[in-house]
Amino acid sequence: MSELPYNTSDFQSEFWSYWIIAIALGGVIFCLVILVSQMMAKTNKPGQNELKPHVWDDNLQEYNHPMPRWWVFMFFICIAFALAFFAIYPGLGSYKGNLGGFLKDYPQGWTAVNQYKKEVETEDAKLAPLYDKYLNTPIVDLAKDPQAMIVGERLFLNNCAQCHGSAATGAVGFPNLTDGDWLYGGWPEAIEASILGGRNGVMPSQADALKTPAAVVDVANYVQSLSNSPHDVVAAARGKEKFTLCASCHMPDAKGAITDVSGAQYAVGAPNLTDKIWLYGGDIKTITETITKGRNNVMPSWECFLGPARVRVLAAYVWQKNRDGDKVLNPTSAPDYLSKVLEADKQAWTKNLADAKASGKPECSANSVPDRVAREAKLAAEKAAAEAAAKPAPVAELKK
Ligand code: HEC
Ligand code: HEC
Repeated sequence: MSELPYNTSDFQSEFWSYWIIAIALGGVIFCLVILVSQMMAKTNKPGQNELKPHVWDDNLQEYNHPMPRWWVFMFFICIAFALAFFAIYPGLGSYKGNLGGFLKDYPQGWTAVNQYKKEVETEDAKLAPLYDKYLNTPIVDLAKDPQAMIVGERLFLNNCAQCHGSAATGAVGFPNLTDGDWLYGGWPEAIEASILGGRNGVMPSQADALKTPAAVVDVANYVQSLSNSPHDVVAAARGKEKFTLCASCHMPDAKGAITDVSGAQYAVGAPNLTDKIWLYGGDIKTITETITKGRNNVMPSWECFLGPARVRVLAAYVWQKNRDGDKVLNPTSAPDYLSKVLEADKQAWTKNLADAKASGKPECSANSVPDRVAREAKLAAEKAAAEAAAKPAPVAELKK
């Protein structure tokens, strides 16, 4: 068990550690003092039944008998227990406890974090052969393995349901994964890529390009006309001309970025606008809002958190969700023009992984979209800094 790379203690200064120690031990000592002082206090001897002098409510009086011995012992046992507990477990400020002296699993002392990591390690080791098998099974075959699909459902409910819904049918802004309508494709390799690396669907605001709110409404009507939704025919005709603005991402026939045979728009993820399936809503108000404000939608990357084997099981689970009875409706492999894009993307990833490994960075952070963006920005900044450093500073020049 390696030490965590950062300080997990809540104590940033030694003072608070001693403060806690003083309060914790002070409490135990206080109990001890009360106990001993009460044992030494003057009380009735056995057989002596002398009453205390005070009387309440006319006739209520009390004896002054000592506490029963067994009760006193209980208090001593409690105090001994507290001291032993403080010696073994972390309870005294930043003192880590010494459970390691008793349990060989915790050589650095017990902590909740250590215990959790230990449990995860044990479970992972138990499941490793199973997940190795899954990782080496084609996604389409994995979808036929009932045991893998039970695992997939569990993983989905725990990690994906909060956004995509427990039946994977989605919500406003979160795509339905069961309807055969895809932003990035329902091919096994595309689904796996979506989950592994995450996705980022960005539509910039088109308000400036369209110039007037009336023009936005015109285009919105044209968008509605594409799916035969109720619309104003005259406005739609005006909007049609302006759709060239949108065609670069949504494609000229508005069938979505995945239909781009050059593969160039694939990663943009612009949806099909002709199918009455809406991410945000097909009413004029929502479409106007999308065009005016734009959209920015993030699907997190799961590679780091779940690892490639679990992601593969999830890809199989998601892939087989769109079905008619026993038949899975999603295609089993990507069309040629996209296989190339997906393959190139995979190679770029593999290279990223190797680079990350070579530079000692955590491998799993190499591929996620936000990490990829952050990494590129950092590299650019480092390069700029290196270039600036390479130029001799004017002051140094003068001193020479
Ligand atoms: C924080 C919310 C969130 C969580 C959690 C989440 N997703 Fe997503 N997911 C999204 C969003 C948003 C998109 C759409 C991204 C876009 O518009 O570009 C998406 C897209 C997808 C896609 C691509 C859909 C398409 O049409 O091509 C797949 C597949 C997917 N998610 C699967 C999963 C799986 C499996 C999990 C669990 C491991 C998961 N998602 C967890 C928000 C989430
Ligand atoms: C730079 C690429 C790009 C351009 C240009 C663009 N869009 Fe989009 N559009 C997207 C993306 C990506 C999404 C999906 C956003 C998401 O995943 O949340 C989207 C979403 C939408 C939606 C929401 C669809 C739904 O299912 O709810 C509408 C409507 C839309 N675009 C219309 C337009 C119109 C009209 C134009 C031109 C005036 C346009 N877009 C220009 C990329 C673009």
